[in-house]
Amino acid sequence: MSESSIIFPDGFLWGCGSSSYQIEGAYDLDGKGESIWDRFSKTPGKTYNGETGNSACNHYHRYAEDIDLMVELGLKVYRFSISWSRVFPQGKGSLNAKGIDFYDKLIDKLLAKNIQPFATLYHWDLPQALQENGGWENRDTIKYFQDYTGEISRQFGDRIAGWVTQSEPAVASFLGHYQGIHAPGVKNLKAALQVSHHLLLSHGFAVARLRENIKNNAEIGISLNLTPSHPASNSKKDREAAERNFAHFCGWFLEPIFNKRYPEELETTYQNTGLFPMIEPDDLKIIAADIDFLGVNYYMRDIVRNAPYKSIWGLETIKPPSADYTAMGWEIYPDGLHEILEFVNDCYHPKKIYITENGAAFRDNMSENGEVHDPRRVSYLRSHFAQAHRAIQKGIPLAGYFVRSLLDGFEWVEGYTKRFGIIYVDYPTQKRILKDSAHWYKKVIEHNGLTD
Ligand code: BGC
Repeated sequence: MSESSIIFPDGFLWGCGSSSYQIEGAYDLDGKGESIWDRFSKTPGKTYNGETGNSACNHYHRYAEDIDLMVELGLKVYRFSISWSRVFPQGKGSLNAKGIDFYDKLIDKLLAKNIQPFATLYHWDLPQALQENGGWENRDTIKYFQDYTGEISRQFGDRIAGWVTQSEPAVASFLGHYQGIHAPGVKNLKAALQVSHHLLLSHGFAVARLRENIKNNAEIGISLNLTPSHPASNSKKDREAAERNFAHFCGWFLEPIFNKRYPEELETTYQNTGLFPMIEPDDLKIIAADIDFLGVNYYMRDIVRNAPYKSIWGLETIKPPSADYTAMGWEIYPDGLHEILEFVNDCYHPKKIYITENGAAFRDNMSENGEVHDPRRVSYLRSHFAQAHRAIQKGIPLAGYFVRSLLDGFEWVEGYTKRFGIIYVDYPTQKRILKDSAHWYKKVIEHNGLTD
């Protein structure tokens, strides 16, 4: 299909995304409490060069200027996350009015500029005070998350257009509690599985709480990072390993949300090894709450080989040297976006799908005349947009696309070394520079499709 015919449906929501700890900075200002990422990033050896989100993009003070940039791009929607410890410094108890004030101003300014706000309730920055009591391993945290959701939706439930309850619970569970490379840095599979169950359950409860409080026709969903798994060879063992890989990272979340159960094979493995989480009778019913959309976060695929002694799942992922990779070492594989959209649509029939995250880090440099040329990002986005369009042509209900990310920011363990933004941030001066990809994206939005 020639690019001039790649036009998206009217009303398609073009957007960008961010998250609180990655861009806000102001980590201890105006009454904000400590989060597990504040604590983790300050723990020696945890992030690249010991970098933290202390200042990040200082979006807390520069949000108005950042919204002006969104206007310049023509964004229809903007996805941000709320920092729980900014509004409840201890995770529960007394509310920090100044925290509410910040999001209040952000939302009002977005609306004044005709940009629809999509709010994520949790993007990994649990209040540290709750971690002291076991964090997401402790079922009580779900109750506090409900209270927090209740307060946020009472405050903003007349203005937010879309709610994402949890962002990538797989990452928070497995990277945070099994591999230990994300906050809170726990390394225990049983804990990780319990956390994943609690995150899912918190999603179900949050949906109910949001439905009680919202006063507009906002949509509610959850964002999952979905990674197609391909076998490294055609052997039966590798094919099965690829299926196991998909089940443990993706099926483990999709199945309870849409089918009220955990994947059978994994349930058996975990029951047999004593790792299966503690579940109460109604939990699966609560998790399978009716949602308005599924948020798909897509970055890459996994190529998987059977490796009996490598992990409890008996597999490992490999990186063929012939493939093309981003600065994260993630394979550039646009077809996978179409594949995963088709898969979730065929198997789970979500009412609507948003790509809540897709984008790439490359080694961007500012040129002498102060421009940032990022042809690889333009080509990355172009090829992924084309796959999204292909999915829409097939009738898949994809309604919007949030490019990750608006600004370069704090990339978790990678610190500031990895730049995902379509807007370059010169951290010492906090100057923002639209990269070529931002100028290109602006044209895509104007044209509602690919132009050149
Ligand atoms: C996270 C984002 C992050 C991106 C790239 C995703 O898994 O949700 O916060 O920016 O990965 O590292």
